[in-house]
Amino acid sequence: MNFISICDFDAARISDLLDLAISLKEKRMKGESSELLKNKSLGMLFEKSSTRTRISFEVAMTDFGGHALYLSRRDLQLERGEPLEDTARVLSGYVHAIMIRAFKHETVSKIAEHATVPVINGLSDLEHPCQSLADLMTIKEAKGKFTGLKFVWIGDGNNVCNSSILSCALMGMDIIVACPKGYEPDAKIISNAKALGCKVEITDNPKKAAGGADVLYTDVWVSMGDEEEKEDRLKTLGPFQINKDLIDIADGDVIVMHCLPAHRGQEITDEVMNDSHSVIFTQAENRLHAQKALLLKLLG
Ligand code: CP
Ligand code: NVA
Repeated sequence: MNFISICDFDAARISDLLDLAISLKEKRMKGESSELLKNKSLGMLFEKSSTRTRISFEVAMTDFGGHALYLSRRDLQLERGEPLEDTARVLSGYVHAIMIRAFKHETVSKIAEHATVPVINGLSDLEHPCQSLADLMTIKEAKGKFTGLKFVWIGDGNNVCNSSILSCALMGMDIIVACPKGYEPDAKIISNAKALGCKVEITDNPKKAAGGADVLYTDVWVSMGDEEEKEDRLKTLGPFQINKDLIDIADGDVIVMHCLPAHRGQEITDEVMNDSHSVIFTQAENRLHAQKALLLKLLG
């Protein structure tokens, strides 16, 4: 079983995983630990930078008595031309699961095709499903439910946005994406979400979108791999910022979310990052608990 897209799990499986994540969080707070993944190893292959994904997976394996190996593409024979297929087969002989963060989603799919152990997508240009697990956990903790919530995305229709759309579709939330023309989320993802019965609305009016929002979510304007477009992106995405004005339009109990890293003054203001509506740092912590639950489901 792989975890390449949030849609690899259905709603029942996600609910089950979130309950497990919440109980693991409580146990960790009480200082209880158990070696549930003793002698298991996770290979973590990174083509791009990471703070949260790398550290949360590594700590998750350590907490369970297992081991995580940080594998930078730069340092592997991959960089000198060894095929992905061979790398996937060789790694499968050493580790019990592979987590990969790649520029192209096809790289993740190819590793999954040739690996004989579970493969986890640690972010690609198309999706960030591990982030979505932590986000759903955070929404569940804050709101106690999913059905009927209004999820509003402000900014670039990127990988995290794509996984958020699918998460909403799976868990029964409506989603409005406010983005400039040309920065819409992936068309196939939108149609997949609609096929699951989700109401997906795309608009270029952030103020209209934010009205009555239960969740306001944003992410960087320049994702890893988009650096060459930086100047255009900063200019075009300028009006798509989560700030106090937008919070005032949203529901009084709105939660503000960001997968991090954040650029204060661009997609979000410093004031909102530190506002009482912000659950951003809980979200970051929940990466650990949600991924622990994921690892137990895939390896336990
Ligand atoms: N949100 C997230 O995936 O952060 P990193 O890039 O630091 O892993
Ligand atoms: N959209 C961002 C997310 C980083 C966690 C990126 O791909 O760089």
